[in-house]
Amino acid sequence: MKHTLLIALLITCNSLSFSNSIHAVKDTCFTDDVFIDTDGKPINAHGAGVLYYKGIYYLFGEVKKGNTWLVPKQNWEDFRVPAGGVSCYSSTDLKHWKNRGVVLKSTTNKPGYDLDTSMVIERPKVIYNEHSKKFIMWMHIDKNDYSYSQGGVAISDKPFGPYKYLGSVKPNDQMLRDMTLFKDDDGKAYLIYSSENNNTMHVCLLSNDYLTTTEIYTRILVNKGRESPAIFKNQGKYFLITSGCSGWSPNAASYAVADNIMGPWEERENPCKGENAEVSFFSQGGFVLPVANKPGSFIFMGDRWNKTDLEKSTYLWLPVHITNDKIEIY
Ligand code: GLA
Repeated sequence: MKHTLLIALLITCNSLSFSNSIHAVKDTCFTDDVFIDTDGKPINAHGAGVLYYKGIYYLFGEVKKGNTWLVPKQNWEDFRVPAGGVSCYSSTDLKHWKNRGVVLKSTTNKPGYDLDTSMVIERPKVIYNEHSKKFIMWMHIDKNDYSYSQGGVAISDKPFGPYKYLGSVKPNDQMLRDMTLFKDDDGKAYLIYSSENNNTMHVCLLSNDYLTTTEIYTRILVNKGRESPAIFKNQGKYFLITSGCSGWSPNAASYAVADNIMGPWEERENPCKGENAEVSFFSQGGFVLPVANKPGSFIFMGDRWNKTDLEKSTYLWLPVHITNDKIEIY
């Protein structure tokens, strides 16, 4: 039903004019059927993030390719595909996406190495460092049982790679699982990640070169059990959308608002509104994309996981409606 509604929404969206920024955002919203690249192939970029650099959007995501299997002896539905590395697509209009290839490749036959196909490489995000003129990627690196819980970092001279892998860390000796990256207006950058066995999120300041974590971090959403953080800033306020922890199955999102990224964060209800809002329209958010040159216009980017065939997972992008310090997604 929601699917039908989304198609209807899409058709409606496409008939809207660009007369204001929210219409421009709506014009880019889409669901499963329409997220193909300029070669007509399905876009393979899951748990994705977007970098905007010199007039071009670069989409980075997990390559999910191959058979899905269930890791034995886990107390949750630990469905996995071989880690396929990180893909990149570029676009100038958010609608036509050119495949730029796998910009951080996984390796075979190196058991235990962070980028081995037997590992987990999830939720890659890229930001640009103005001082070093390098593009910095962070991602969640794990073992199949999620016991490793580290943040991996890679670097490139160009947005579309190739990226050189530098290694992984447990920031301040703390677990890092679902994560995102945020570069603030003052050039400082932060890693935001599910920590403490997914019970509590951490916001950790990165070093000036964005390559290492610092000892400056704060614990937020304490004992709330949240994951898949997606952060954005509008008119000086920070908004953080998260999901609950139910593996690949969708659940209700919630959000938090702050005047300072290090907190305090005021926790709010589910921003999704309408039918199937309680399962985030069968998606899990992972990034909020600021539309370039359209202040106040943001796109919620969600994954629609197909847990028993992860390669077939699709996407849901919807506009974020902002009224002062409140947001709604529909
Ligand atoms: C959650 C996370 C995903 C992935 C799965 C694995 O959905 O958000 O990134 O790690 O769990 O079960």
